[in-house]
Amino acid sequence: MRAAARGAGRRISSPSVSDMRIATLSGSLQERSSNTALVRAAREVAPDGVELVVFRSLADVPWLDPSLEPEPVQELRELIGEADGVLIASPEHGHSMPGVLKNALDWLVGSGELSGLPVALISASPTMGGGIRAQMALTQTLLAQAALIPVTLTVPAIKSKLDENGELADQATRRRIRETLVALAEAVEERRAYLQAS
Ligand SMILES: Cc1cc2nc3c(=O)[nH]c(=O)nc-3n(C[C@H](O)[C@H](O)[C@H](O)COP(=O)(O)O)c2cc1C
Repeated sequence: MRAAARGAGRRISSPSVSDMRIATLSGSLQERSSNTALVRAAREVAPDGVELVVFRSLADVPWLDPSLEPEPVQELRELIGEADGVLIASPEHGHSMPGVLKNALDWLVGSGELSGLPVALISASPTMGGGIRAQMALTQTLLAQAALIPVTLTVPAIKSKLDENGELADQATRRRIRETLVALAEAVEERRAYLQAS
């Protein structure tokens, strides 16, 4: 059965879309993080057949020591290794990505789970920049690991888009997140077809 992309005006064509698992990472440790709220919203608006699996807090990932294999790192490697794609939602810190996110991604350099994997980037910021410089830094780090970046989304002026509980209320942004997931799912399918043909 073909899975429809609800409300996005596009269809996801592959019958195997029901198997699609997307690992999600938030680059923020704040309890009321706006970027983590975007991950929660993404789970709500995901197209049929696209399962978003949330990694526990990046605070659990210790500082990089390549001679060790801590349990949370094994869990992270397993999550990414078994995923068809990744969604990262991150704030911009000091015109770059947060250190906790860079640290977590660096743990994957040696093990290579991100190689060839489609990764969607979302960044939210209270400024009009929308965290674009976090995405620039992320792009460099992800390309160093041969990840693919088929789609990105910046969310400027995030504070005006959250409700009193810190959840994403802005309908236009919810729609854009859904479109981002549709584009990511299409990239996953394209990669599957490419791998099958080669
Ligand atoms: C140490 C620090 C550095 C920051 N640097 C930037 C920045 O360079 N650009 C920006 O747009 N916002 C910056 N901010 C503001 C964050 O974008 C804002 O706190 C955002 O809401 C964090 O996302 P979160 O709610 O997911 O934690 C910075 C915040 C902190 C705490």
